Amino acid sequence: KATLAYPGGTAEFPILPGVDGAASIDVSTLTKQTGLTALDYGFVNTAATRSAVTYIDGDAGILRYRGYSIEDVAAHSTYLEVAWLLIYGELPTPAQLSAFEERIRRHTLLHEDLRRFFDALPHTAHPMSVLSSAVSALSTFYEGSLSVRDPEQIEISTIRLLAKLPVIAAYAHKKSLGQAFLYPDNSLNFVDNFLKLNFGTMAEEYQVNPVLSKALDRLLILHEDHEQNASTSTVRLVGSTEANMFASISAGINALYGPLHGGANEAVLKMLADIRDSGESVEQFIERVKNKEQGVKLMGFGHRVYKNFDPRAKLVKESADEVLDALGVNDPLLDIAKQLEEVALADDYFVERRLYPNVDFYTGVIYKAMGFPTRMFTVLFAIGRLPGWIAHWREMNTDKSTKIGRPQQLYVGAPAREWPN
Ligand code: MLT
Repeated sequence: KATLAYPGGTAEFPILPGVDGAASIDVSTLTKQTGLTALDYGFVNTAATRSAVTYIDGDAGILRYRGYSIEDVAAHSTYLEVAWLLIYGELPTPAQLSAFEERIRRHTLLHEDLRRFFDALPHTAHPMSVLSSAVSALSTFYEGSLSVRDPEQIEISTIRLLAKLPVIAAYAHKKSLGQAFLYPDNSLNFVDNFLKLNFGTMAEEYQVNPVLSKALDRLLILHEDHEQNASTSTVRLVGSTEANMFASISAGINALYGPLHGGANEAVLKMLADIRDSGESVEQFIERVKNKEQGVKLMGFGHRVYKNFDPRAKLVKESADEVLDALGVNDPLLDIAKQLEEVALADDYFVERRLYPNVDFYTGVIYKAMGFPTRMFTVLFAIGRLPGWIAHWREMNTDKSTKIGRPQQLYVGAPAREWPN
C-alpha cells in the first residue's frame, strides 16, 4: 500500500504488482477515497475523460444535461429538442427546432439497397445485431462521412443518424416478425412516426396514441445521455481513431448490447416473470437475494454511480402507471416490481448497500405494454442514447487535446523465458 497526501487529507491505496518490478496504482480505490480523478486524455491510464455534455452526482442522485436537470428536461422538452441541446450545447429557438425537425424528416427514407440489406439477414437475428450491422453499413452509402474533420459531413451524418436509426430499428423489429416494412410517414412527428413504423398494422390504440407517444418520448429523453458509460466511452474510443460517426456509433450499439448495459431491462422483465411463475412471495425472493443464492439477483437495482435513487427511475415509474392505465393493461409484473421496490427499500440490507432502483427497473414493463417484444428493448435504449453518442463523438472530434485512445496495460504474465530446445 502507498499513502498519498492531497489537499483534502491523506489516503491509502493499493499498489498492484506486475512483472519485473512493474507496478500500478489502483486508481479506482484512490478515486473513491479522495474524490480525485486523474485526468488522462486518450484513456492512457485511467479511462478518464473530460466532457461538457452531462453532469452526474451519484451520491445526491442528480443528473443534468448541459446544466438542465433531468426532471426539467423531461417535463418541458421533446426528444429532438433534447438532442439539439446535447449536440449543440444550448436549447434551440423555436425556429431552430422546427428547421432541425424538418431536416430530419427529409432524411428518414432508407436507400432501397439498404432496405434490401435486411433481406440477407436471417429473420431470427436479434434486432440489436441487425441495428449495429445496418448502422455500420451506412458508411458504404455515405462515403463522405469518412471525412471526419469536414463540418458539413459531421452535420449531415448527425441528421442522417437521427432520421434513419428509428427506421432501421423498426425494420429490425418487422423483420423479426416476418412482416412487411412500412415507409416512414413524414406527416407525423418523430415518435408517432416510429410507433406507426412498428405497429402500423396493429389496432388503432397502438398507433398514434397521445399518452403512449408522450411516454415513449419521455423514455427516450431519459436515455439520451449518461456521461462515460460503457457504450459512450466505446464511441469515444473508436472515434478517437478518426473512425467516422457511423462506425463509432455502430461500435457503441454493440457495447450497449450486453445484459450488464442496455440489455438490463430484459433481465429485469425475466426476473419479474420468474417470480410470478414460481409462485413465491416477493419477501421470499428478497430473502434469497440477501442470502446470495446462486444466480439470484435483484436485477435493475443498484448502479455504478448512483448511491441514491437513479433520478431517471422515479420518472420511469410515473410513466409506467400512465401507460398501463391508458392502455387498460393490468400487468401483474408491474405489481411485483412495485412490491420488490417497497420491500427492498424497507430493508437495511439494501439501504446500507445503497441499492436503489435504476433506470432499467420499470422500462421493460412499459415497453411490453406498448407491444414491443423483449428483444426490442435494447434497441429502444439505442435510439434514446443516440444523441448522447453523437454529442460525445462531436465533442471529442473538436477537442484538440484528444489523442488516440490506448489504455495502459500492467503486464502480469510470464517473465522473459528461454525458448525450449
Ligand atoms: C446508462 O444509462 O448508460 C446506464 O445507467 C449505465 C451507466 O451509466 O453506466
